[in-house]
Amino acid sequence: MRVPFYDIKSQYDELQQPLDEAVHAVLSSGSYSMGQNHNLFEQELAALHQVKHGIAVNSGTDALRIIMDAAQIGRGDEVITSAFTFVASVETIVQTGATPVFVDIDPATFNIDPKLIEAAITPRTKAIQPIHLFGQLADVAAIGSLAEKHGLSVIEDAAQAISSTYQCVPSGNFGIGAAFSFYITKNLGAAGDAGLILTNDDEIAAACRSIRVHGMGRERYYYDHIGYTSRMDEIQAAILRVKLTKLQEWNQRRAEFADIYRERLANAAVMLPKVSSGNNHTYHQFSIRSERRDALQAHLKDRGIDSMIYYPVPIHFHEPYRGFGSGPGSLPETEKAAKEILNLPMHPHLSSEQVEYVASAIVEF
Ligand SMILES: Cc1ncc(COP(=O)(O)O)c(C=O)c1O
Repeated sequence: MRVPFYDIKSQYDELQQPLDEAVHAVLSSGSYSMGQNHNLFEQELAALHQVKHGIAVNSGTDALRIIMDAAQIGRGDEVITSAFTFVASVETIVQTGATPVFVDIDPATFNIDPKLIEAAITPRTKAIQPIHLFGQLADVAAIGSLAEKHGLSVIEDAAQAISSTYQCVPSGNFGIGAAFSFYITKNLGAAGDAGLILTNDDEIAAACRSIRVHGMGRERYYYDHIGYTSRMDEIQAAILRVKLTKLQEWNQRRAEFADIYRERLANAAVMLPKVSSGNNHTYHQFSIRSERRDALQAHLKDRGIDSMIYYPVPIHFHEPYRGFGSGPGSLPETEKAAKEILNLPMHPHLSSEQVEYVASAIVEF
C-alpha cells in the first residue's frame, strides 16, 4: 500500500465543480484584486474565530511581518519566540530590525515552554510571539499573564492553527494580532500563497490594512506607513471560500485519524503528541518522537509510507541566524526534538485503512 504524506489533488477532486465555477466566475468578472470574495473571506475567517477584524494578505509570512510593523517593532526591540519552527516565524522578526530571543520548547507539545519565558525578558523585550505548532495553541493563558505583568504585546503565529481553540476560544484572540497561512498544504490551503491577519484591535487593524497596500491611507496615493504589496489575489480568496465549506469536516477526519494513531500506537515505543488541558488539536501534523527516528523513517519508506521531519534543524543552527541565541546546546529540548520528531501522514483524504497500515508498520518496527 502507498501512503502519501499529502494529497492536495483529492481536495480538488472532492470540490471540482464548485472550485471550477468559483475560479471561472472570478476570471469572467474582471475583478481580480480585493473584490467580493476577498472581502467576504476576511469576514468569514473573522467570524469563524470570533475576532473583529480580518485582513487578507498574500502569505502567512507577510501577515507576521505586517503585524510587527503595525505594532512598531523594530531596531532595539527583542521578541521572544521559539527556534523549533518554520523559518518565517523568525525571519520576519529579523527583517524588522528587532532581535529574536529564543526560548526552549515543551518536549511533549513542541510549543514554547512558558516556564522559561520570564527569564528571557529584558528591558528591551517588546513582544512574545508564541507559535501554535502543528495545530495546537501554545500555552496562551500563561503567556497572556506574563505579557500583562511585563507590559508586552503578544503576536500569535497561528499559521498552522486555523480554528484551533483554548477553552473554546479560537486562535486570533490571544494577542494584538494573529497570522494565518493558507499555503497549499495547510488545513485550509490555497492554490498557491495566501495569508490573513486577525485582530481585535482597531488601530492595529487600520495600520495592517494600510501596510498591506504600500502604506496607503484612505486617500489614493497618500501614504501613512511604509508598506508592501501584499494583497490576497481574488482568485485565491474564491478558492479558499469554497474549501472553507469543508474545513470542519476535513478537520474532523484529521481528528478521527489521530484517534486511530493514538489507539494503535498506545503501547508502541514512540512518544505521542500531547494535547494540553483546555486545547483542541486540529492536527495540521501528527508528530511522534522516536530515539531511532531515522531508522523508523527508513522502515516506513520501505513499506511505501511517506513521512516528514518538521523541523530537522533548529533555527539557531542555520548560518544566517547563528548570531541570535547562544548556539548549540542552548536549547536542549529544541535540539533533541529536531533529532527525534517524525511527522506521520495526516490529511483528510487518507483512508482509515491507510492510517491502520502506518500504525502497524510502526508497531512492527
Ligand atoms: C509556523 C509557521 N509560521 C509562518 C509560516 C509562513 O506562512 P507562509 O508560508 O504562508 O508564508 C508558516 C508556513 O509555511 C508556518 O508553518
